[in-house]
Amino acid sequence: MDTPLPTGAELRRLYDQGTNIMAYLRRVSGVEHNAEGIIAAAYDLQAGSYVREREDPRRAATLLPYARAIADVLRRYGATSVLEAGVGEATTFCDVVEFTGIEPPQAWGFDLCWSRIAVGREYARRRGLAEACLFTGSLFRIPVCDDAFDVVYTSHSIEPNRGRELAAAHELVRVARSHVVLFEPIYELAGPDAQARMDRLGYCRDLFAQLSGAGLKVVEYRLMDECPTNALNPTGVLVVAKSTAHRRPPQFICPQAGSPLRPLGGHWYSDESHLVYPVLEGVPCLLPGNGVLASSFPAFAA
Ligand SMILES: C[S@@+](CC[C@H](N)C(=O)[O-])C[C@H]1O[C@@H](n2cnc3c(N)ncnc32)[C@H](O)[C@@H]1O
Repeated sequence: MDTPLPTGAELRRLYDQGTNIMAYLRRVSGVEHNAEGIIAAAYDLQAGSYVREREDPRRAATLLPYARAIADVLRRYGATSVLEAGVGEATTFCDVVEFTGIEPPQAWGFDLCWSRIAVGREYARRRGLAEACLFTGSLFRIPVCDDAFDVVYTSHSIEPNRGRELAAAHELVRVARSHVVLFEPIYELAGPDAQARMDRLGYCRDLFAQLSGAGLKVVEYRLMDECPTNALNPTGVLVVAKSTAHRRPPQFICPQAGSPLRPLGGHWYSDESHLVYPVLEGVPCLLPGNGVLASSFPAFAA
């Protein structure tokens, strides 16, 4: 019989004792790669830790130059609207939005973890960026229409998704208009110790080979001087160019049906799939599994 997976409360206890939750869940589930459920369980428990770090002046001395370097790249690619995929607690995001000068309503971000987005919304509000749009969603079914943002970027969020790098890249390209910019660890440009660590943690690899092999146009590929974490996780920049004649205002779509969502009764409703995606404490919950089948919802919520 399969070992039952631990509950949230058990994971919280293990996390508080210093256990690496992703490694633990891989082991008890008998899988080699980090499934999205494993990534979500591990990161949701960390909610609040990135804001604490960002507010520590010693850590800020490393994090600010990193965000400034991201902003420089985004500006170089002409970003006037951005989406950060895997935005965490919006700590990098808020600095990037400030450094680029992008209008907050043109800055969107999503993450797998509700708790991190809830913390991030509160943090963005404190930073004067309450109009930025933050919601939950998956890298593999981004709940936003095609061609919606000048530049779509990631900062260490493809990182734990080894084995699904290309699927994520295709989704990011779908919602971008001109460029996708990945700020991710680059396995192939890292030393042997860093590579061993990335293998142990199930971090992404072969980004350049996979993306260019699939016909995506990689126009920049290098290691950065700045790194938000440690030398064993060196951040690189990989830029994919996309040219589209379309220019659509960003709009939520049903992550299952792919058709537009409309606001209804304080939530988001799909006329196509009849799924309602709840808004929990102000956070639109747009993961594929979040939809509640409710074909009669319009009659009750109108
Ligand atoms: C290392 S943190 C970085 C957070 C943020 N980008 C930053 O720079 O502070 C990685 C984040 O990516 C998110 N993430 C990882 N895989 C994801 C996926 N498949 N879909 C959506 N978010 C994901 C995690 O939940 C986590 O918050």
